[in-house]
Amino acid sequence: MEKLWAGRSETKTSVIADDFNSSIRFDSRMYRQDLNGSMAHAGMLAKCGIISAKEAQQIIDGLTDILDELESGALVFDPGAEDIHMFVEQVLTERIGDVGKKLHTARSRNDQVALDLRLWMKDSIAELKTLILALMKAITDKAEEYKSAIMPGYTHLQRAQPITFGHHLMAYGMMLKRDVGRFEDAAARMDESPIGCCALAGTTYATDRLWEAQTLGFSNITENSLDGVSDRDFCVEFLSACSVLMMHLSRFSEELILWSSWEFQFIELDDQFTTGSSIMPQKKNPDMAELCRGKTGRVYGDLVTLLTMLKGLPLAYNKDMQEDKEAVFDCFDTVKMCLSVFIPMIGTMKARTDKMHAAAQKGFINATDLADYLTKKGLPFRSAYKISGQLVAQCIRENTVLEQLSLEQLQQYSDLFEPDVYKEISLETCVAKRISAGGTSVSSVETQIRSLRTWMQQK
Ligand code: ARG
Repeated sequence: MEKLWAGRSETKTSVIADDFNSSIRFDSRMYRQDLNGSMAHAGMLAKCGIISAKEAQQIIDGLTDILDELESGALVFDPGAEDIHMFVEQVLTERIGDVGKKLHTARSRNDQVALDLRLWMKDSIAELKTLILALMKAITDKAEEYKSAIMPGYTHLQRAQPITFGHHLMAYGMMLKRDVGRFEDAAARMDESPIGCCALAGTTYATDRLWEAQTLGFSNITENSLDGVSDRDFCVEFLSACSVLMMHLSRFSEELILWSSWEFQFIELDDQFTTGSSIMPQKKNPDMAELCRGKTGRVYGDLVTLLTMLKGLPLAYNKDMQEDKEAVFDCFDTVKMCLSVFIPMIGTMKARTDKMHAAAQKGFINATDLADYLTKKGLPFRSAYKISGQLVAQCIRENTVLEQLSLEQLQQYSDLFEPDVYKEISLETCVAKRISAGGTSVSSVETQIRSLRTWMQQK
């Protein structure tokens, strides 16, 4: 294929350099955005009298055919083309002749690629948002199902206080709500079109950038042409939002892995989302959760790739920036896969509430409540805390639990103990009494579920 810059160079680039330089094997993925962008550009050129309406129509018809044929598979990408932008222009010119050569007036590939990627990302964010919301629905439904299932809550991975499984699940629901917010913020900030910045300095033609931007669904244009072609903040923000989301999925995965271990046995993942071992017949491995945890590193890697690529770049466009797309696409594909497997994995997960309850009964997780009991009867909290600690020590010595101690044994430490203590330190009471906003009582968790569902309905 003859190079578009054949006027300037005498010798051809080497095959190996062409191959190295080319991005069509990954940027062909943006063909829809590229073609739609070009149609809007032809429309703008005609509107501003830079080309005639007839010429614009010829261009748009040619581009429409290319789009249809790429969709149907009748036209295939030429791996010898440098990138998607060159490929489209070349095919168009082959088909409609010299008129096709007018399309690239008052633009450059530098603003074109920045435009395509923004358009692609807007669609991709919408796609990820739908998946996150579906995961949030699966989580809230599970939380509702298990809003009374008592389990130990942990700090330092040591049993701390009783909570419900519904409460624990809703913590992830709240994280995902913030994730949606981060994607929305990123999408709002990238809602500016760079097209018309041209190579870097703007153009001598009297273009209408805002009209073109609005035709493509943007609210505004980038205000500085150098910034418009050099900015990849929108990619960094996308990758950061994906990284935080993956960090949440990874923490969730880690808990699913722990909970499904023989040591915990708190949950059972559906057979559809676990695998067996090729040698150990008893195994049921949580591979999907492990892969989500593992792939988190890969997404962080994509973010670091882009930050590092950008950090030393002078303005404006540099070829280094071609590296942006592979990181962005890899991140999107990875996050999409993880969410797609997470949604049904949570939807089909079963809790073993008997095991959760049994674990909650050990580990003295009602020790705080025992101290609170004495405090409410007038003892300063610090003194009550000490007595509770002494009783725990006695239980450990005697291999028993607080609620098994007799009233006489309790009263050796404080005469404030009365028969009502047993009800007060039962796991059910410990949970039921935590009615503070955001707490673990059934009513508090129901409030959280309601609030998240209302928020999701408005999306
Ligand atoms: N393939 C290039 C990229 O992905 C498009 C822009 C090229 N611009 C240039 N002046 N070489 O970044």
